[in-house]
Amino acid sequence: MHKVLILNGPNLNLLGTRQPEVYGRTTLKMVEETCVKHGASIELEVSHQQSNHEGVLIDAIHAAKGTQDGIVLNAGAYTHTSIALMDAISSVELPVVEVHLSNIHAREPFRHKSYVASVAVGQICGFGLLGYVMALDALSAHLKNEGAA
Ligand code: DQA
Repeated sequence: MHKVLILNGPNLNLLGTRQPEVYGRTTLKMVEETCVKHGASIELEVSHQQSNHEGVLIDAIHAAKGTQDGIVLNAGAYTHTSIALMDAISSVELPVVEVHLSNIHAREPFRHKSYVASVAVGQICGFGLLGYVMALDALSAHLKNEGAA
């Protein structure tokens, strides 16, 4: 059974009440519970973590090396700014699927740039909670293909 970490970044603890017109009414708890449940249905052991702090997210990525097989990452606004997060992902050599609830490419120009995308297996954005489910499916397929290669 592969192990996957769902890692959520800044302000995502406020999901449900934060700009619902952009991010919907889904809470972080609903995201995490859905991921654990969907993960179990496709034989992934899912754990989750959220932090508002860049360094804590970097530590979580480092800690995933050797303990997790992949990461589903919504780095929030750090997506658009953090070379340190990008370097952390490169350093641990774990497959990362980038997720955003909103379609970052249809929003302000500063959200179009993602440092995470350049080191991720792929990016899913614009589908709300469903994006996390799709990311788990994508990561599962990726991990199985790697195992077969
Ligand atoms: C987000 C998009 C980011 O631009 C924003 O800063 C967030 C949430 C999303 O899930 O749509 O915090 O990552």
